[in-house]
Amino acid sequence: MRFSTIIASLALAVPALAQLDSIQSTGEQMILNDIHNTTSLGGSWSTGSKNVVTGPQFASPNNMSFHFPKTTGISFSFTNDGFFELAQYRIFGNGSQPNCLTAMMLWDHGRYTILANGSIVTQSFGDGYQQVQNACAAVSNFIQPFNANNETTLYQQFRIFTDLQDGYKLHIFQFDGTPFPPQFQVSATPIMFPTRNLHNTTTAAAAKRSLKKRSAGERSWASVGAGAIALVVAAVASVSL
Ligand SMILES: *[C@@H]1O[C@H](CO)[C@@H](O)[C@H](O)[C@H]1NC(C)=O
Ligand SMILES: *[C@@H]1O[C@H](CO)[C@@H](O)[C@H](O)[C@H]1NC(C)=O
Ligand SMILES: *[C@@H]1O[C@H](CO)[C@@H](O)[C@H](O)[C@H]1NC(C)=O
Ligand SMILES: *[C@@H]1O[C@H](CO)[C@@H](O)[C@H](O)[C@H]1NC(C)=O
Repeated sequence: MRFSTIIASLALAVPALAQLDSIQSTGEQMILNDIHNTTSLGGSWSTGSKNVVTGPQFASPNNMSFHFPKTTGISFSFTNDGFFELAQYRIFGNGSQPNCLTAMMLWDHGRYTILANGSIVTQSFGDGYQQVQNACAAVSNFIQPFNANNETTLYQQFRIFTDLQDGYKLHIFQFDGTPFPPQFQVSATPIMFPTRNLHNTTTAAAAKRSLKKRSAGERSWASVGAGAIALVVAAVASVSL
């Protein structure tokens, strides 16, 4: 997948429901019916080996940094009164240039609501950010705001099953119906940062400054890459959508 495609696909997540007014937290979001089954969305959920979990072990929004988990994954947390947090660590391969991996870390949070038709709409607080590292690009490592204008994102559907071995299992379908890999409940109590905007404004300039300031101590692509290359086949198969 091209670097530009990755960026474009991130951008796609943004405008789907921009026409909706600001989402109010309407109180109880618990749905237990025939299709949204077995438990509520409330809690923290994580894919695969469950190394990616929202909250302070993944991200430090105060200085817009990330803590690299051992493996790639996606994690959502939801409160039962209308707040969400999202963490993603994904690696995209490059078929013709096996060394040209792109790693993407993403952290965001805000409000969510469940529509009458069962879709979930999230609205970011505006302090989310992402880090993209491309082993081959001229600018190989940068941090930028994500959904800085409180964009909304639509998730078409969700389902919760009980897996005999792993317990509660959440399936979330993206705006175009593509499912994320299944997420397992890692905590019935959501592991989240405070549910409000934690920065006033997350500007690109601030992001650049903060990246520069800590570039000396930053874990380099090389050190991330060594482990990442081993993972890429699995990552592309299981997490690249
Ligand atoms: C793979 O990497 C090469 C070198 O950076 C680039 O020219 C090419 O477009 C990439 N291909 C894909 C599919 O990303
Ligand atoms: C960012 O903040 C976190 C938590 O406050 C701290 O643990 C970490 O060392 C900081 N990182 C940098 C690069 O300043
Ligand atoms: C986004 O939402 C947060 C909290 O709800 C608010 O503080 C901030 O001003 C909003 N930003 C924009 C650009 O609307
Ligand atoms: C639910 O309604 C929203 C807003 O009208 C729409 O965008 C979405 O596609 C609908 N979801 C389903 C599953 O029909």
